[in-house]
Amino acid sequence: MTKKITNICCIGAGYVGGPTMSVIAQKCPDIKVTVVDLNQARIDAWNDPDTENIPVYEPGLDKVVAEARGRNLFFSTDVDKAIDEAEMIFISVNTPTKTYGSGKGMAADLKYIELCARQIARVSKTDKIVVEKSTLPVRTAEAVKSILLNTGNGVNYQILSNPEFLAEGTAIEDLHAPDRVLIGGDTTEEGQEAIQALVDVYARWVPRERILTTNLWSSELSKLTANAFLAQRVSSINSLSELCEHTGADVSEVARSIGTDSRIGPKFLKSSVGFGGSCFQKDILNLVYIARSYGLREVADYWEQVIIMNDHQKRRFANKIVKTLYNTVSGKKIAFLGWAFKKDTNDTRESAAIYVADDLLHEQAGIAVYDPKVPESQVYEDLNYLNSRPGDINKQLVTVITDPYEACKDAHAIAILTEWDEFKDYDWQRIFDNMKKPAFVFDGRTLLNVKQLREIGFKVYTIGRE
Ligand code: UDX
Ligand code: UDX
Ligand code: ADP
Repeated sequence: MTKKITNICCIGAGYVGGPTMSVIAQKCPDIKVTVVDLNQARIDAWNDPDTENIPVYEPGLDKVVAEARGRNLFFSTDVDKAIDEAEMIFISVNTPTKTYGSGKGMAADLKYIELCARQIARVSKTDKIVVEKSTLPVRTAEAVKSILLNTGNGVNYQILSNPEFLAEGTAIEDLHAPDRVLIGGDTTEEGQEAIQALVDVYARWVPRERILTTNLWSSELSKLTANAFLAQRVSSINSLSELCEHTGADVSEVARSIGTDSRIGPKFLKSSVGFGGSCFQKDILNLVYIARSYGLREVADYWEQVIIMNDHQKRRFANKIVKTLYNTVSGKKIAFLGWAFKKDTNDTRESAAIYVADDLLHEQAGIAVYDPKVPESQVYEDLNYLNSRPGDINKQLVTVITDPYEACKDAHAIAILTEWDEFKDYDWQRIFDNMKKPAFVFDGRTLLNVKQLREIGFKVYTIGRE
């Protein structure tokens, strides 16, 4: 008989664990959900009485947290206690690309996952269902299982893979009405019971036909593949954007024309300065690494090209700015509108803005950054992480400004790096009046009304247009 779950623990209170568990708690008031993290500051922020201050910015998340927190949703640093009490444990810790050793720059670093597995093994005194939520290379479940079975207290474990498909900025919508929920598990009877226990949790609000069950490896591979396909579409349209700039075709028109073919579909065809986010690059690198490790050279090269194209797109945007500004940006002020990797999030991981800024800083540009949600400290942290120059030089060349008009004042050029809606509604005449002339706009998100800007007097470059 399938066990009814009444107590869930989630290790990792980040962009995935926080919102996902908040929605599970909201939809299942009879299940106690405890989200734990080693990071005390992060947990404190999740517990802040003012839900405006929770550490993840997602439209609608504050309301979900306000509804469930203290009722059946808890945030804590007491990892052992939460593990001990739970019947089902989600692992939702970060799995960054390795920065050292074998697989450096390619493979996922699984040390946080392994630490979690060891901690679960040490603490557990009752049977547990352990659910992988983080994106992981195929066959990680096997490693987790091996640790649990060899270092545990003799209790039974079932391992499930339940990858998260939410996109940042629309996380709550995606969690409330997912295209599908994917659950992979063992094909044994016990495995199927564990799958059913998790199906029963989601079935409270997700139509049953949207809950797909597979074996463990299919589930793990599907997550990598879904992200690889999405990223590949962005690189495909971005490759065409460069061709459009040389031929007089308009990439937005091309995207619309091909997107109406029902076999292709309209989504993920927006040309941009390059995709970012914590998943796309990491997952593709992971896929490439796995393919190489099996000696599948053509497969690896095929997917690697998606990354090569994306790096090219970021670099060529920076080059375009330098070239247009008479081949030198040294000592010039460039205003960056946007720093987050997409709109409606404060997440900056792998944001194109970071790499474009770095290239311009190599050319000794001065940069003034405005982003409605990203704090100053994050901008410096992102640049310093690249290790391109000493931190104090980054601080000298880059200023972070909380007023967009101030950021654009006396600038030689404005670069749009994130597609925040508010940028469209600015008083562009006022911005123009306060800029150095000729006043340039480089729109990396095909966001602004080019005709209107040109009428004001701006010189405008938009990705994918002549
Ligand atoms: C294609 C385009 O579909 C059509 O819009 C265009 O006008 C002409 O080119 P066609 O070549 O007739 O049409 O057939 P299509 O169904 O697209 O298949 C092309 C090839 O891809 C076939 O060999 C088919 O077997 C193969 N294919 C298609 C796959 O291997 N897998 C698939 O999922 C789809
Ligand atoms: C992605 C997947 O969409 C999600 O299913 C998975 O769970 C995690 O990874 P996310 O990274 O949050 O989600 O955002 P997404 O909307 O996919 O955008 C990724 C990047 O691609 C962003 O930088 C975005 O600006 C860029 N993008 C997206 C484009 O440049 N053009 C597009 O048409 C779509
Ligand atoms: P994601 O986007 O996958 O959610 P984040 O980096 O936003 O990634 O969140 C992962 C969280 O996991 C971080 O807050 C980190 O402190 C936490 N974490 C990592 N390892 C452990 C661990 N062993 N125990 C508890 N929390 C952990």
